Amino acid sequence: LREEALKSLSAVEEMDILENLRVQYMGKKGELTNILKEMGKLSAEERPVIGKIANEVRGEIESIIEEKKSSLKLAVINQKLKTESIDVTIPVKTKFVGKIHPITKVVREMEQIFMSMGFSVVEGPEIETIENNFDALNAPQNHPSRDMSDTFYISENLLLRTQTSPVQVRTMRENTPPIRVISPGRCFRCDTPDATHSPMFHQLEGLVVDKHITFANLKSTLEEFAYKFFGPDTKTKFRPHNFPFTEPSAEMDISCFKCSGSGCPTCKGEGWMEILGAGMVHPNVLRNCGIDPEIYSGFAFGMGVDRIAMTKYEIDDIRYLYENDMRFLSQF
Ligand code: PHE
Repeated sequence: LREEALKSLSAVEEMDILENLRVQYMGKKGELTNILKEMGKLSAEERPVIGKIANEVRGEIESIIEEKKSSLKLAVINQKLKTESIDVTIPVKTKFVGKIHPITKVVREMEQIFMSMGFSVVEGPEIETIENNFDALNAPQNHPSRDMSDTFYISENLLLRTQTSPVQVRTMRENTPPIRVISPGRCFRCDTPDATHSPMFHQLEGLVVDKHITFANLKSTLEEFAYKFFGPDTKTKFRPHNFPFTEPSAEMDISCFKCSGSGCPTCKGEGWMEILGAGMVHPNVLRNCGIDPEIYSGFAFGMGVDRIAMTKYEIDDIRYLYENDMRFLSQF
């Protein structure tokens, strides 16, 4: 039995065969176990002799099984190391880390500033009615902005909004004063793309309606915004302008916050940059939206987000903002 066991054990190459052999000899009904069990039947003289031999054989088999086990384990590990080795010279896959688009960054910063002044953020649809985009905003029937060559019409009644001002109409019709909202979003005009024009661009609209709102409130709000956004040394300048939905109307310029003199690329050497249109909400617009102009007054403004992002990040062509070129986007 000893010889047979040692022979078959030393030939073993696999773990489960080793286990089978262990059971065959040493298991509960194993061959060696059976011998040990029958020791009791032996005579008093035979017992110690046979017992000694049986115990020696058991020890021998046990130790050879242990040895085999560890050498088989080692063989498995070596085999794994051989087949699962890593080729450290293979080029890695590049992972692109997402960045926040400069337009989104600018809009978020503007929202923070206006929210700190008590404004809430509302949104309106990009597909609008002619009523909301033009009629309710007091645009005369022959206003040039209504022209087919300026506006993308979708149907008899629908268009792609040319400004965020229709959100004013929606807000006033759905709420009662006091109203204090801003509304960022995309706008569309039939412009041929060039360095300063894009048929899709962004505005941020503002609207305040309450009792006793004056042009002084408009000025202080927009000046406060300019200081917070462009820096405390920023100067502002209001120039008279004309919009159908505000009276009086103005455009606001800010002093160039990057100005490097006559050759300044940011302001073209003018020292000033126009960033928004604004004015006191026209009484006709208040009336069109169900608000009594005898009781309430308001101001509104609309900023060009793209232009502000371009000056802030020194981008000299608006088309970069919409080409989704990773080389451009990954800079922000
Ligand atoms: N909607 C105007 C524009 O697109 C901007 C504006 C908004 C002006 C609100 C006055 C009040 O040019």
